[in-house]
Amino acid sequence: MPGNTSTPEWWRGAAIYQVYLRSFADGNGDGTGDLAGLRSRLPYLADLGVDAIWLNPWYPSPMADGGYDVADYRSIEPVFGTLAEAEKLIEEAHDLGIRTIVDVVPNHASDQHAWFQEALAAGPGSEARERFWFRPGVGDGPPNGWKSIFGGPAWTQVPDGEWYLHLFAPEQPDFNWTNPLVREEFLDVLRFWFDRGVDGVRIDSAAVIVKDLDSVEESYTDHDGVHEIYREWRRVSDSYDARILIGEVWLPDQERFAKYLRPDELHTAFNFDFLSSAWEPAALRDSIDLTLATHVPIGAPATWVLSNHDVARPVTRYGRAVTSWDNQERRDGMPSDLELGRRRARAAALLAMALPGSVYVYQGEELGLNEVEDIPEELIDDPMWERSGHTVRGRDGCRVPLPWSGTEPPFGYSTGEPWLPQPAGWRDLTVEAQEADAGSMLSLYRTALRLRRELLGDGTLTWLPYGDEVIAFRRDSGLVCLVNLGAEPVALPETGSVLLASGPLDGGLLPSDTAIWIMEA
Ligand code: GLC
Repeated sequence: MPGNTSTPEWWRGAAIYQVYLRSFADGNGDGTGDLAGLRSRLPYLADLGVDAIWLNPWYPSPMADGGYDVADYRSIEPVFGTLAEAEKLIEEAHDLGIRTIVDVVPNHASDQHAWFQEALAAGPGSEARERFWFRPGVGDGPPNGWKSIFGGPAWTQVPDGEWYLHLFAPEQPDFNWTNPLVREEFLDVLRFWFDRGVDGVRIDSAAVIVKDLDSVEESYTDHDGVHEIYREWRRVSDSYDARILIGEVWLPDQERFAKYLRPDELHTAFNFDFLSSAWEPAALRDSIDLTLATHVPIGAPATWVLSNHDVARPVTRYGRAVTSWDNQERRDGMPSDLELGRRRARAAALLAMALPGSVYVYQGEELGLNEVEDIPEELIDDPMWERSGHTVRGRDGCRVPLPWSGTEPPFGYSTGEPWLPQPAGWRDLTVEAQEADAGSMLSLYRTALRLRRELLGDGTLTWLPYGDEVIAFRRDSGLVCLVNLGAEPVALPETGSVLLASGPLDGGLLPSDTAIWIMEA
């Protein structure tokens, strides 16, 4: 395979592009992105310079939670295409040096999954119900007071009186991971996709799959029992060549987080600490230090993530008065200075790409898209909206279909009407417009990813003393990254050649909210 992906440990320094398939490119004009659209745009991703793509769930799904309600783990949602097309995608991506990572959702299925339907039909006490968490209620109410992560109770009652657990929407019943049949099933699902050539698996909600239902308090995060499960998964992935497991592990406790990355468990996990950090020098430096202190001793590479399909777009987030991210406090609609946010997002990109480890780019991040905050209420699709009693608008604002070309919606994304409306203001942010502009966000990402391939990725860093307001470090290749997070411009080093800057320099000075890559003399 071409590119730097030919090494067995390709994942240690990879740039991984997250494809939210529903909104990437629509090949058949129905307004929803699909495999045909993605395949036609693979050259774009090759030009961008990414090593792998991670696709959000592409399985048959009623889409109660954007595909995270999986009805069949071994097939493709017809709106997206067919299994044969998925296999072609994997092959065509490989031909371009791009690996494919799929999303596996082990915590819950769709309520339309055959096992859940069987469980409903089989009734209380049946083996079919043992694959999920069915329980009698207490009095008229649910078995306990656990709340769903999307709001409302975590239990729903079925007509025969029993209740089932769902940490997310009622359409997403939780699997019972104490049941060996569930464990076997997922090992087989892994083999199914590895046999079809996928290079890795992103594990959804990886830390919450084991529960203690006898606890009065919610007790599902990070139970020790998860580790034996991921050790089994690792034995499967190790039986193939260079396949990886990536955990979605949101845990504030870094010691606990590190346990998932032991040599016989997951290969990497998303760095949500970095993603959540405020745009402040001490906060970012602490996050980087903490990340390295967590990963280096166990030999696991760090990951650097600025955004994904669950959080506000960086351009919007970094332009707000509060720049940190908090899942509980989403700050929807908090005013944002997008020009400031864009300048910071450009600098943040150069920071993330310069750090040792792998980096994620969520589709549209490379175009500097903002969070869309005015989606008409009747079009909001995210279950958070309903579940919160219309108080949380949720995550649709970062899932709006990409603008590819032209001057008005649907911007080359589709020949039909996009499933979520695109802002007219995105005419300047299309791929076409940005390709023609050397100063665009897209041009910055392309250049940065190209340089990163040669000079960055896996390895170590050395902090450079540059004062409190500046994040400054040198990588093994001699590349120095400086990010000025202070209000005043700072002097650049006297020697070395400038490889790339996130914004215009001020003579010999690095302006506020600007990052630069310099090759040491
Ligand atoms: C993960 C996904 C999110 C989904 C949830 C439930 O957090 O990233 O989009 O809603 O799991 O599957």
